[in-house]
Amino acid sequence: MRLYLIGAGVIARTHAEAAAKLPVTAELRVADPSPAALEAFAERFPDALRFADAEAMLAAEPPREDDIVIVATPPFAHLEPVKLALRSGRHVLCEKPLAMNDAEAEEMLRVAGECGRKLGCCSVRFKGMAHMEAVKRVLRSGALGDVYHATFAHKSERSRAGIEYQPASRWFLDKSKSGGGILIDWGPYDFATLIDVLDPAEIEFGGAWTRRPVTEADPADVVFDVETHAGAYMTFRGAGEPVRVHYERASCAHGEACGRAEIEGTRGAVRWHPFDSKQPVYIRYDKGGSIVEEQVETGPRGDLTIFDNPLFHFWAELQNGESLSNTGRRAVDHFRCLSAFYACAETGQKQTVAIAGAKGERA
Ligand SMILES: NC(=O)c1ccc[n+]([C@@H]2O[C@H](COP(=O)([O-])OP(=O)(O)OC[C@H]3O[C@@H](n4cnc5c(N)ncnc54)[C@H](O)[C@@H]3O)[C@@H](O)[C@H]2O)c1
Repeated sequence: MRLYLIGAGVIARTHAEAAAKLPVTAELRVADPSPAALEAFAERFPDALRFADAEAMLAAEPPREDDIVIVATPPFAHLEPVKLALRSGRHVLCEKPLAMNDAEAEEMLRVAGECGRKLGCCSVRFKGMAHMEAVKRVLRSGALGDVYHATFAHKSERSRAGIEYQPASRWFLDKSKSGGGILIDWGPYDFATLIDVLDPAEIEFGGAWTRRPVTEADPADVVFDVETHAGAYMTFRGAGEPVRVHYERASCAHGEACGRAEIEGTRGAVRWHPFDSKQPVYIRYDKGGSIVEEQVETGPRGDLTIFDNPLFHFWAELQNGESLSNTGRRAVDHFRCLSAFYACAETGQKQTVAIAGAKGERA
């Protein structure tokens, strides 16, 4: 297969490494207007064909059915490369967040439909990990009874993208370039994870908020208008009882750092760390009136890393027609959760998002 990378920055390099692990040979092509980015990429992947311009790269040879284009540019530069790549006759996997807003996401989906090509989103990095599959098995087993509540809270005290993390990429701090802050950056993974586990047909955002706590390291010389702390109260509605979800995410907060994912039912609870596959999964239930906590058997950790998963899931989708990939309507519905979250926080009004199933169908 041929893998075309649009953008040669930090994440493009991880996709190129993933491509080397595919069971087929992957020929690399990469386009970036920055000579420095192209040069740094070439040091790691000297065989990659390099282009200053994505359009020239895609026009240089006719498309083949197994070509994949990954759009690995900052969010403000996702829409045009995605459309260009789809119109070149190739399947497209776009970095998260899929788009800057719902209209862009819907436009991508429309163009994918017109071109008969698949559109996927890289928000699936944590899907398919052994510990995540173990959590799903616990839920499907019925061991928790009627599932009614989930807590999903991940707070860092100081890990802002563009400041403490990857300080060279200041675009993370500017909403007109990034689309938002911690929610748009980590929300795609959080919603992909929660939807994978709870399988809702609809999510209602009952209340939401976003804030940017002040620190003495806040940059004054660049635009910095994104939130670094966000929370919501949601109801996930699907086949069973509605599940109320308390959600919190922070890349900067003055409260204590924490990482907690827990789902509770009438007969038990499951607790795990979605973003650290080395941490155990626990099931908790009652025995004789007291809590018993047991570690769940997760099986061996796979060979793939979170950075391999987006390409592997998308490639599997092209091979088999189904996978853990988020493609088509499902990718857009996941993105709409982020917009609905912001809309709820800004207006104080409830928002509801329909979520397409794994095959793209809505209930
Ligand atoms: N850095 C991470 O840890 C990380 C992790 C997961 C996902 N992502 C996502 O990956 C995307 C890129 O992030 P990054 O960290 O690699 O950014 P980066 O700043 O390291 O690199 C972005 C690259 O895109 C290039 N670029 C900009 N416009 C372009 C265009 N029109 N055509 C071709 N190249 C263009 C820039 O020159 C730059 O080299 C973002 O959507 C981000 O959310 C990043």
